Amino acid sequence: MTEVSRPHERPRRLRATPALRRLVAQTRLHPAELVLPMFVRDGITAPQPIGSMPGVLQHTPRSLVEAAREAVDAGIGGIMVFGVPRDEDKDPVGSCGLSADGVLNRALGSLRDALGDDTVLMSDLCLDEFTDHGHCGVLDDHGRVDNDATLEVYARMAVAQAAAGAHVVGPSGMMDGQVRVVREALDGAGHQDTSVLAYTAKYASACYGPFREAVASTLTGDRATYQQDPANRTESLRELRLDLAEGADMVMVKPALPYLDVLSDVAAATDVPVAAYQVSGEYAMIEAAAAQGWLDRDRMVLETLTSIRRAGARAVLTYYAVHAARLLEG
Ligand code: PBG
Repeated sequence: MTEVSRPHERPRRLRATPALRRLVAQTRLHPAELVLPMFVRDGITAPQPIGSMPGVLQHTPRSLVEAAREAVDAGIGGIMVFGVPRDEDKDPVGSCGLSADGVLNRALGSLRDALGDDTVLMSDLCLDEFTDHGHCGVLDDHGRVDNDATLEVYARMAVAQAAAGAHVVGPSGMMDGQVRVVREALDGAGHQDTSVLAYTAKYASACYGPFREAVASTLTGDRATYQQDPANRTESLRELRLDLAEGADMVMVKPALPYLDVLSDVAAATDVPVAAYQVSGEYAMIEAAAAQGWLDRDRMVLETLTSIRRAGARAVLTYYAVHAARLLEG
């Protein structure tokens, strides 16, 4: 046999048994860091499946509360609620997102009544589910998304959601200045204790495809004039600087897996909690491959969530929140 030199260091020693690996694991997943996004749809009498998101449902107002209670009992850290109004309730300015009897605000009220402070109740603060054109803001006379006119609507929407019972509002529309107007509106209405989870780095991503089905989106075209270009990295640090100056309590990077570099940059640059959103398309990719038998679903779930945490996320929004919590509890 040829003489080969023997290694001076042996990293494999610490991988030798499950107990050793457990001892030295640098990143741990815990259900309390996982946030479940949930959909509530007006005008349906039974929960509806979402074709491109197997296992995820559009809930009725009643089934939403039951499923949320189950999720909280599974130990997850919070829920993020999206509302899907009836088609006939959509209009150019998204009025039904503002009114107290709109589907999302009613749902927030019943969730807060049922769950109190047992969980962190978060609401999506955006117009796309409520507008007939499907954009995240209101349009000007030329059909362009009007930043400053949208801010006025977001301010009112924030107050409506806080009044309905949200602990945290999540402005996700990528309008410039949105965090400031939301913070000021909340403070002005006596909601000083309602937190703002800023969608700080939100990219114009193909990974939102299944979500558009989930919220019955009417959008034609894209959101490239307001969401970030996937080509850009340092732009996220600019968005971070602005959101922090405007009063964000927590910041988010979205999508997660294709943007771990951005997540790592953001986490290194701030002392506020950083969240990441494993979005609908990330979920759909795992589900589709697992359904073919091409990937092991449970291992993919834990590996992707661990990677997102390792890159710097304190909390992860994921459609797998309850499933992962159950896996973690063994
Ligand atoms: C906007 C919003 C979107 C998502 C969360 N908030 C859609 C979009 O920006 O087009 C996507 C979430 C997902 O894909 O899971 N209200």
